[in-house]
Amino acid sequence: MKLLRIDSSARSGSITRQLTAKFVEEWKKSHPAGEVIQRDLATTMLPQITDDWGGTRLDPSQLTPDQRNYLSTSDHLIRELQAADTIVIGAPMYNFAIPSSLKAWIDQIVRMGKTFGYGPRGARGLLSDKKVIVITARGGAYPKGTPGEKLDFQEPYLRHILGFIGLTDVTFIHAENQAREEAGPSLASAAEHIGRLVADQSQQIAH
Ligand SMILES: Cc1cc2nc3c(=O)[nH]c(=O)nc-3n(C[C@H](O)[C@H](O)[C@H](O)COP(=O)(O)O)c2cc1C
Repeated sequence: MKLLRIDSSARSGSITRQLTAKFVEEWKKSHPAGEVIQRDLATTMLPQITDDWGGTRLDPSQLTPDQRNYLSTSDHLIRELQAADTIVIGAPMYNFAIPSSLKAWIDQIVRMGKTFGYGPRGARGLLSDKKVIVITARGGAYPKGTPGEKLDFQEPYLRHILGFIGLTDVTFIHAENQAREEAGPSLASAAEHIGRLVADQSQQIAH
């Protein structure tokens, strides 16, 4: 089994990093022989989408050396994603959405012919059979059914784009109110949720 851990917080001692680390720790207990691949987007400088992205629409034999070189990052990140059975993503809320580093990663892995394609019913995701856990941290709170919900451009976007490439088994765990008095209890509750989730997932595998 392979776990891909993706962090995108700019802060080394961040809440989402604490929680993705907790997920890895719990996951390793139930997968002692499992492999963990770490992708830290704060230290991996990903390219922006440039004119060379057009090479994704060409047959590989037609690529120029520049296009081939440019697309090698996307090739590598997609292979990493394809190889994983479980993906845990640490996603701080920045300006009601996601860090640009995480958006840059998404831009590299959402790729026609590799992670999505077109069929008779339109676009369809090409990835399957993977569990995704998105762990967020926010200064405020955006609970469902409250006026704050419509300001959450993080969960709806991530749910949509992950689903677009076929990743539909997605669980969100939010550590909210990190800039408020409730920070401690909210963090503890997120950590507890992680423990429960990994235990439940291991039981499902055992049956
Ligand atoms: C650049 C920046 C933008 C932020 N924007 C928001 C925001 O729009 N809404 C919010 O609730 N918190 C916002 N925050 C607070 C973070 O979501 C919060 O500090 C969270 O703990 C960050 O995750 P981390 O601890 O893993 O870095 C922002 C923080 C930074 C640094």
